[in-house]
Amino acid sequence: MILLWLTLFFIKELHGLRLLDLEVPSVVESGDPVWLNCSFDLEHDDLYSVKWYKNSVEFYRYLPKEEPRAHQYELPGVYIDLERSGENYVSLSQTDLDSEGTYRCEVSAEAPSFQTERAERELKTYELPKEDPVMEGIQDSYSPGDVVDVTCVAAPSKPAAVLKWFINDKETPKNYQKPLLPITKEKLFGSKLALTFVVKQTHQWNNPTHIRCTSVIVQEYSQSIEELFIRDIKSTELRAAKDGPQISGLKSNYELGDKVNANCSLPKVVSPPILRWYVNKEEVMPDQLDQYQTIECKDGYKTALLGLHFTITEKHFRNGEMRLNCTATFSKVIDRRDVDAVIGTNQQSSGLQLSEKKTKGTNGSVVLYKLPWRFLSHIFIISLILQ
Ligand SMILES: *[C@@H]1O[C@H](CO)[C@@H](O)[C@H](O)[C@H]1NC(C)=O
Ligand SMILES: *[C@@H]1O[C@H](CO)[C@@H](O)[C@H](O)[C@H]1NC(C)=O
Ligand SMILES: *[C@@H]1O[C@H](CO)[C@@H](O)[C@H](O)[C@H]1NC(C)=O
Ligand SMILES: *[C@@H]1O[C@H](CO)[C@@H](O)[C@H](O)[C@H]1NC(C)=O
Repeated sequence: MILLWLTLFFIKELHGLRLLDLEVPSVVESGDPVWLNCSFDLEHDDLYSVKWYKNSVEFYRYLPKEEPRAHQYELPGVYIDLERSGENYVSLSQTDLDSEGTYRCEVSAEAPSFQTERAERELKTYELPKEDPVMEGIQDSYSPGDVVDVTCVAAPSKPAAVLKWFINDKETPKNYQKPLLPITKEKLFGSKLALTFVVKQTHQWNNPTHIRCTSVIVQEYSQSIEELFIRDIKSTELRAAKDGPQISGLKSNYELGDKVNANCSLPKVVSPPILRWYVNKEEVMPDQLDQYQTIECKDGYKTALLGLHFTITEKHFRNGEMRLNCTATFSKVIDRRDVDAVIGTNQQSSGLQLSEKKTKGTNGSVVLYKLPWRFLSHIFIISLILQ
């Protein structure tokens, strides 16, 4: 909180017009409507314009002194609801996979200052698979020496599902599994993963073998903040969101030979993101980073922290400017499904028989599907050798 307050204090010191917050959802399901909200404080200035860009291409502008005040420009994936959009908001009535991108809000004050403030945020769109994963190639029964050769097939999604095989609840080592070429369908990707093993010893057949394929879809997204120093003067060019990473410890100007000592922090997160520092768009190497433990608060939230230290040399002020950027990358599980099969005893024949096959699906849930307790006793009696 103090960090945030300090950052806002700095901007207030330097500027009249202040961009307070840019709210763009980080991850949305394709089809969902979206609000893009940009709030600012004009202080004593008059508003000249609010402009919105996606990947640096303008799609909406609002000029309060013109008639009509609002203009929109056609852009793939940007479906503006003009009625519900205005000075502080743009409403997108729907989204699709083309809606993904970096959204920027740019606010300019009237003459004489013509001061401009901007902020940007990344929006990712995902599409869930239409069907549950399936196991292909499983037979009704197996005899000793038979090869079990099954493939787990996930229906197309974006991003692609990550598949894993488990035998009696233990993840099978990578060499038992073979990834097959994914199916691509328009902008969607279907994953396939094969599992192959030989049914070995007869006397161990009495125990059912449980095989499971899990399909997990993880959406990554980032938030970042960048501080720009031009000819030794700090000039914050792009504001991050209020709930994005914050930089602290920076001085307002630097000269050659000065030491930069800064922290990037992201308070109040449930699962901490990966933090990275970039100097002039180049990722900073570990010897210039200070890794700190994640701080846990009483309310269950955590704070991620990453320090940066280096001494400014000529190369840091290339073209008279230095950019310090901290990026936080989050991973969000958006879909998790299992498909199970139990190869068990067959009373009538001497082979192994498929005794159960079922599919479980959960959306966006972090809870793993748990095996019924009765199967757990069979964990150590795998009757297989692996190729
Ligand atoms: C954005 O503004 C709209 C309109 O006022 C509001 O309904 C919506 O909740 C706001 N979104 C966020 C994330 O604050
Ligand atoms: C920070 O750097 C990353 C990686 O180069 C870039 O993707 C991101 O847009 C930068 N953030 C800002 C606010 O410029
Ligand atoms: C960064 O955070 C650590 C841990 O809280 C603190 O010891 C250090 O002084 C901070 N550095 C700066 C430059 O603020
Ligand atoms: C999964 O999502 C679908 C559609 O989004 C919904 O109808 C269904 O109830 C959800 N299932 C669970 C287990 O949340």
